[in-house]
Amino acid sequence: MSTTAPWLLAFDDERHLAEALARELAWPLHCIERHSFPDGETKLTLPAALPERVVVLRGLQQPNAKLAELLLAAPAARELGARELTLVAPYLAYMRQDIAFHPGEVVSQRHLGALLAQAFDAVVTVDPHLHRVRSLDEVLPGRRGTAVSAAPLLGAWVARHVARALLVGPDAESAQWVEQAARAAGLGWALARKQRHGDRDVSIALPDADYRNRGVVLIDDVASTGRTLAVATTQLLERGAASVDVAVTHALFVGDALAQLRAAGVRHVWSTDSVPHETNVVSVAPLLAAALR
Ligand code: R5P
Repeated sequence: MSTTAPWLLAFDDERHLAEALARELAWPLHCIERHSFPDGETKLTLPAALPERVVVLRGLQQPNAKLAELLLAAPAARELGARELTLVAPYLAYMRQDIAFHPGEVVSQRHLGALLAQAFDAVVTVDPHLHRVRSLDEVLPGRRGTAVSAAPLLGAWVARHVARALLVGPDAESAQWVEQAARAAGLGWALARKQRHGDRDVSIALPDADYRNRGVVLIDDVASTGRTLAVATTQLLERGAASVDVAVTHALFVGDALAQLRAAGVRHVWSTDSVPHETNVVSVAPLLAAALR
């Protein structure tokens, strides 16, 4: 059995979380260098010799280019000495496409999971969007999948910043996160229903509750275009909420998402650093470190 400490490998654009994680674990951190050729190809350079256990940190926001990098980096790491290779993807993309709604539609969750299972021995992530599938192990055939949740941390953050907050999940899938956040913080919670009509077009039905003069906080795993949270906010304010704040694990916030939230009347937007973003207030580094230990 090797006595060498595992190495953490990371890319320069995720240095902040990588450094926090390496500090938590007291593991050496090394960089995977990237060069982009004019034609769009990428050259990666890993440390020339690797220990037996290697952990690669790569969040899969803007996933397509990063997946190509991972599929190159993983076999290269094995050639350079890694025997046990773990991927830490704080945000794991493609998890929402878990069923074919129309004939021929690709169930990306399943195929992405199979690809990662070929490349890595284990995958660690935060709040993956598992809805019709119970556990990450089911997504990664024959490999270890570990999912940790930032919802309790977000709940504790909310409890410190909003007196008597009511937590609201915007759709059925968010029940798992809003319930954990509420339990950790000793707060009340409720669940809305959502219908998606298009990428930027959703309708929300709020649950019956007295929102008047309440500080309401919307909790979700991921905000992408922000439309889900913006529509819910408009309705909550119409129903008399004193304030609406938003707390999400993964701050994708693409395009004009933040502007949409502000325009709808959201007061604070809070997120974890699973995706680097100006709204980050809670670090997932301790959660990831615990899972890796
Ligand atoms: C889906 O159910 C997720 O939990 C989020 O609610 C959704 O992805 C948010 O998307 P958007 O910000 O584009 O409305």
